[in-house]
Amino acid sequence: MTEIQRIEYDPLPLLPPAHASGEVQEFIILPPPDLDGGAPLMTALARRESTRAYADAPMSLQTLGELLWAANGINRPETGGHTAPSAHGYHEIDIYAALPQGVYRYEPALHHLVLKHHADARNMTGYQDFVSKAPLDLVYVLRGSQVLATPPQQRERFAAVAAGAICQNVSLYCASEGLATVVRGWINTRLLADALRLNEDETPLLAQTVGKPVAH
Ligand SMILES: Cc1cc2nc3c(=O)[nH]c(=O)nc-3n(C[C@H](O)[C@H](O)[C@H](O)COP(=O)(O)O)c2cc1C
Repeated sequence: MTEIQRIEYDPLPLLPPAHASGEVQEFIILPPPDLDGGAPLMTALARRESTRAYADAPMSLQTLGELLWAANGINRPETGGHTAPSAHGYHEIDIYAALPQGVYRYEPALHHLVLKHHADARNMTGYQDFVSKAPLDLVYVLRGSQVLATPPQQRERFAAVAAGAICQNVSLYCASEGLATVVRGWINTRLLADALRLNEDETPLLAQTVGKPVAH
C-alpha cells in the first residue's frame, strides 16, 4: 500500500482558481520576525506532526512574515545567508504563497511578497479538501535557470533536499507557535505551474498547508 493510499482524504474536483478575496496589493511588506518568540526547539520537535484538518481562520501578517523568514529568510544579512541550506548556495527554491487575495512569491532579500497572480489558487495546490480551507498553502518551486552550473544528474536531488530543509523549518515554526501544517507531494505539477504563473524553467516540487488546527 502506498503512502497516498494510507492517507484519509476527500479528493477535490479539479476546479479553476477561485476569485481572489480581500484587499490585493502588488507587494506585501512583511514585518521582521520576533527572534525571541515561540516554544524552545526541543519542545517544537516534540510537537511536530502532520495535520489534515484546519480552522477557517485568517493568518496575521506577523505570523506570515515569521513563517516565511523561518522557511528561508535571510538570517545573516552581512553575508546574505539563509535559514535553510542549499548546495553551492544557489538557493534555487522559490517559495510561492497561495493566499485568499492572490498568489505571491517570497523575496527573502527584501523580506516581502510580490504578486504573481490575482486569484485564489489555494484549491489548485493539491487534491485534498483542506487545501482551500486553510489560510495559506505554500508551494516550493525549483527555478531551473539557477542551477545550470550544477551537473544535470544532481539538480533534482539537491533541489529536493533544499525544499525538504525549507519545509522542515516551516514545520518547526508551526510546532513552536501552535499552528497546524502538512507537507504535500501529491500535487498536479502542470496545473499548479499555470496557477502560479510560472516560467518554463520553473517546476513545483512540494506544497505545504499552514493554518490554525480545528479546535478539539
Ligand atoms: C515528501 C513528502 C510528501 C508528502 N505528501 C503528502 C501529501 O501529499 N498529502 C498528505 O496529506 N501528507 C503528505 N505527507 C505527509 C506524510 O504523510 C506524513 O509526514 C507521514 O504520514 C508521517 O506523519 P507525521 O508527519 O504526522 O509524523 C508528505 C510528507 C513528505 C515528507
